Amino acid sequence: MSNSQIKILMNGICGKMGKAMTAGLAKEPDMQIIGGVDIKGGADIGTLCGLEANGILVETDLAAAIENKQPNVVVDFTNPQVVMKNIRIALEHKTPIIVGSTGITEDDLATIEELSNQYDTQVFIAPNFALGAILMMRFAQEAAAYFPHVEVIERHHDQKLDAPSGTAIKTMEMMSENRGVFAQGAANEFEKINGSRGGDFQGMRVHSVRLPGYVATQEVVFGGLGQILTIKHDAISRETYLPGLILSLRKIKELKGLVYGLDKIM
Ligand SMILES: NC(=O)c1ccc[n+]([C@@H]2O[C@H](COP(=O)([O-])OP(=O)(O)OC[C@H]3O[C@@H](n4cnc5c(N)ncnc54)[C@H](O)[C@@H]3O)[C@@H](O)[C@H]2O)c1
Repeated sequence: MSNSQIKILMNGICGKMGKAMTAGLAKEPDMQIIGGVDIKGGADIGTLCGLEANGILVETDLAAAIENKQPNVVVDFTNPQVVMKNIRIALEHKTPIIVGSTGITEDDLATIEELSNQYDTQVFIAPNFALGAILMMRFAQEAAAYFPHVEVIERHHDQKLDAPSGTAIKTMEMMSENRGVFAQGAANEFEKINGSRGGDFQGMRVHSVRLPGYVATQEVVFGGLGQILTIKHDAISRETYLPGLILSLRKIKELKGLVYGLDKIM
């Protein structure tokens, strides 16, 4: 391990994201996964993530792992129930943390900002690490100024519980800054099957497809006089999140306090 490498402790390493991100980060010459934590514990982190066995076993106690391994940064892909506790532990140890776990509320953000200032330690939170998805949202926001008639179609695997996706909501929030509020479609339209016109967000329509086979896809379709503009992003595998995570790992040292959203560092 060279001194210039970023030493990473992966929390939630036994999960789908933890394993996929560890496998990807291990190929980066300036990064080193020095440990992994998960309530499941036990396994060799190399074999767990489809790499060569390296004798580093998954630990179960984040605080102890930080104390023993002294990482430069903790990466967290756990779940909404435990993520706040993990952030607190990392900050109490003055260890910067990059958070991919979703479900962080506005109230949580206020608490995290306070903690980050109190311990003078960086926190970077990205509910979506896919660079292409961030660009899709940016482009959609710009297009909404010229094409206010817009519908969002998002497609995810059938195990996703919430609808519409957080990305769809964020996209509509961003578009609403340029579009204002008005109802689309015919004033007297009606549904023969409940929900067939999709959800209504400030007059924009959103449709959530849930089928096995999808990872995450979103289409933003704008209709104008004599033209249709479609902006589409497909996440084909979990590797889609890797370049965004790598970017944040390389940048976290330069950040101050809490930074929320991949768009802030692109
Ligand atoms: N930011 C992004 O771009 C992005 C992309 C995909 C998924 N996610 C989010 O990442 C999180 C993980 O997703 P996943 O699909 O890997 O879920 P998963 O259920 O496969 O993995 C979560 C892992 O966390 C472990 N865990 C639970 N409590 C823990 C604790 N207290 N300490 C340590 N480990 C603990 C579990 O045992 C499990 O192995 C979710 O919140 C998901 O929404 C974010």
